[in-house]
Amino acid sequence: MADKPVILVVDDEKNTRDGLQRALQRHYQVLVAESAESALAALDSSKPPVDIMLTDMKMPGMGGLELLRETVKRHPQTACILLTAYGSVETAVAAMRQGAYDFLTKPINLDHLDMLVARALKSRELENKVVALESQLDEKFGMENITGESAAMRQVFDIIRQAAPTQASVLIQGPSGTGKELVAHAIHRLSQRAQGPFVAVHCAALSSSLLESELFGHEKGAFTGAVAQRRGRFEMANGGTLFLDEISEIDTSIQVKLLRVLEERCFERVGGEQTIQTDIRVIAATNRNLREYVDQGKFREDLFFRLNVVDIVLPPLKERTGDIPLLVHRFLKECCERNGKQITGVSPAAMELLDSYEWPGNVRELRNTVEKMVVLAHGERLDENDVPQNIRSSIPKVENSRSEWEPASLADAERAKIMAVLERNGGNRTHAAEELGISRRTLHRKLRAYGVTGKEDEE
Ligand SMILES: Nc1ncnc2c1ncn2[C@@H]1O[C@H](COP(=O)(O)OP(=O)(O)OP(=O)(O)O)[C@@H](O)[C@H]1O
Ligand SMILES: [Mg+2]
Repeated sequence: MADKPVILVVDDEKNTRDGLQRALQRHYQVLVAESAESALAALDSSKPPVDIMLTDMKMPGMGGLELLRETVKRHPQTACILLTAYGSVETAVAAMRQGAYDFLTKPINLDHLDMLVARALKSRELENKVVALESQLDEKFGMENITGESAAMRQVFDIIRQAAPTQASVLIQGPSGTGKELVAHAIHRLSQRAQGPFVAVHCAALSSSLLESELFGHEKGAFTGAVAQRRGRFEMANGGTLFLDEISEIDTSIQVKLLRVLEERCFERVGGEQTIQTDIRVIAATNRNLREYVDQGKFREDLFFRLNVVDIVLPPLKERTGDIPLLVHRFLKECCERNGKQITGVSPAAMELLDSYEWPGNVRELRNTVEKMVVLAHGERLDENDVPQNIRSSIPKVENSRSEWEPASLADAERAKIMAVLERNGGNRTHAAEELGISRRTLHRKLRAYGVTGKEDEE
């Protein structure tokens, strides 16, 4: 049967090899090798891979211990059981420290052999399961929170996957509400630091001196109000990830200190002498164009390069064609669960309105909008009437618009304003013109230019 587990028997004595082979071949596929060297060749070439290796300790040429070390390195899934002469239990114990699964003393008791082999196979199976589950968990907590299938987002996922396991600093850029913090979390969860802390600092929220002591900590008496020693975020993040949000806003004196931590992995607390080592990975985020800050002399170029080893750009939502319906459905499901509502879907017309809106607040605005719609909805399905007024009356986004995030043209803004006011006034042009502070004649002219030919108010 092809599915029988594979056992490799390594011994320089023919009698032992034959004996073990006879004992095992009923239930297992047995390979034999008369030296450590040929055992390695068998391990390298066996398909399916060897499940268990039984090896003698003392052999001419390469010994059993060395074979064990090589096997652990090259074929970590193979469980190694050592065969030792009676009385050399100490060597066997040493071998187990190096990764052997267990040992058997010679002469070999066949019942004992059976039991041990069965147990090794079982534990190998469990280990494989654990590995599979762990990687599923990583997926779940790492990227599962980020929805998107657009080309832009797929590229973001690729970079996250590649960068996460490394120690490289990451700079995440994108307008507000595009998911920068979400991405920072995912990188942490998918890194080897996942078990360590994830510490976030919002750099714009604090004055410069507060930020300094927040980041680096301070000694007692360092400044008025420093009544006790305090550990900073750099210390708290030791062994984990430090997330510096709104990095563009830190002032130059702190930029210098930050650069030093990134370069030398050490710093002093404010008012302190002692140099503290820290093992952290830094992820920074900004909704500004940091390169421009560098060009304007507001941000140190050397620090920019240090932070920008891996560069992730999250485009505005309106540029991620196809992601809006996915996000709507996701948020709809989440909001229904949270609010105990039963809404089964979204009408095509409503989806069209959501899909063509500009979303200046990006995913955050979309999420809040869906939440609002769910809370206020009457029916079982969200339709046009559930879409907030401001979205219904806004002008549709221009397909394939310029790719940088910049405001719409003045004419677009004017048109949007006029259409919104007109909508609010129920189509009454007299009232709309009044509210807009223009004459009715001007309003008519503009509407005609937009191609709006609706009924005129009666005089
Ligand atoms: N791709 C996405 N999939 C699912 N949820 C998302 C996605 N992007 C953003 N969100 C949600 O949108 C909200 C805003 O995301 P986040 O806080 O990460 O944005 P940000 O870029 O850090 O914004 P800011 O610059 O304002 O801090 C959060 O509720 C987040 O869960
Ligand atoms: Mg944020």
